[in-house]
Amino acid sequence: MNAALAALKRVCLIGSGNWGSAIAKIVGLNVMNQPDVFEKEVLMYVYEEIIDGAKLTDIINLEHENVKYLPDIKISPNVIAVPDVVQACTNADILIFVLPHQFVKETCEKMASAVKPGALGLSLIKGFVLTEGEGIQLVSNIIKNTLDIETAVLMGANLATEVASEMFCETTIACHNPEYHGILSKLFQTPYFRVKVIENVAGVEACGALKNVVGIGAGIVDGLGFGDNTKAAVIRLGLMEMMKFTKVFLESDDISVFFESCGIADLVATCHGGRNRLLGEAVVKSMKYICHSSYFEPFCLSRLFSAAAFSYNHSSRHMMFQVLYSHHMAKNSCLVFTYFIYE
Ligand SMILES: NC(=O)c1ccc[n+]([C@@H]2O[C@H](COP(=O)([O-])OP(=O)(O)OC[C@H]3O[C@@H](n4cnc5c(N)ncnc54)[C@H](O)[C@@H]3O)[C@@H](O)[C@H]2O)c1
Repeated sequence: MNAALAALKRVCLIGSGNWGSAIAKIVGLNVMNQPDVFEKEVLMYVYEEIIDGAKLTDIINLEHENVKYLPDIKISPNVIAVPDVVQACTNADILIFVLPHQFVKETCEKMASAVKPGALGLSLIKGFVLTEGEGIQLVSNIIKNTLDIETAVLMGANLATEVASEMFCETTIACHNPEYHGILSKLFQTPYFRVKVIENVAGVEACGALKNVVGIGAGIVDGLGFGDNTKAAVIRLGLMEMMKFTKVFLESDDISVFFESCGIADLVATCHGGRNRLLGEAVVKSMKYICHSSYFEPFCLSRLFSAAAFSYNHSSRHMMFQVLYSHHMAKNSCLVFTYFIYE
């Protein structure tokens, strides 16, 4: 191991929502318990908000709890909330990105001059970014290219509130450089949050984005009142489409990634819980037009994923139409899904 990797690591968190706060709990404790590996203080960038007249950063630093995004869960006191992203990232060796994807580019641009050369980025952000004129981009590539740092990813069946409540789960970290694998395990592993580190960054990240689209399909199935058999079919067909998507668009033949937590486990969890399943169900039940929804993220993802489905004419698209047409109440929902596919 080279000297830079052997020195004490300073960690920062860029983001502090539901998932960012759950991860702050894990990272804060792991850093504190390994003083031979990490610097004790972890700065966490918080997008400042006023809650009942007080700044969210002050509340977090006083009560050690993110009362808005993860109430009733304590974060260790060595995690310090700061409203300035430049302050948060200065001198950090490991930068954990856990913002909604739409804020990544502008946040990275603010950080660019302050990030330490040779730092490691780690994205926990699920979703692709659709950039005008540049098409689909991996979030990790945006971080990597804007900050000129190696960027790893962490994805898995990890609903934040369950992780924060210490319910057992697994996660997948992917990093091209095997020299970082040990330290990333040390940073995240706990008895209830089991880490596996692999090298296929793009494959792991694609799983984290694409499963959301299948989750919408699973929600539509729930909204229409179909049963577990139908949902199992949507999950199986969706998984096959995810595999084909990565083969075609990422030119990756590595199917082992789909059998990690970031693959089948996250897909199953998303199709039973989570916001995208809820969106699919709500669309059917409310008969509302999807573009008027505030759920911008899955809307974008559906467009991207459906582009693949359209080009390669795979069976889950037909499956989705069959499900929708076979239900007498489903005409409006069907139009919504058609919109996803042909937009
Ligand atoms: N919540 C989960 O269970 C979960 C699990 C795994 C992965 N993720 C992923 O983690 C990422 C973050 O999700 P989350 O659930 O923590 O978010 P969230 O919806 O709980 O919180 C949104 C966050 O965005 C911040 N924000 C609002 N406007 C901003 C701006 N202009 N600039 C910067 N920040 C701004 C808010 O302050 C808040 O911290 C997403 O990519 C999500 O897919 C979430």
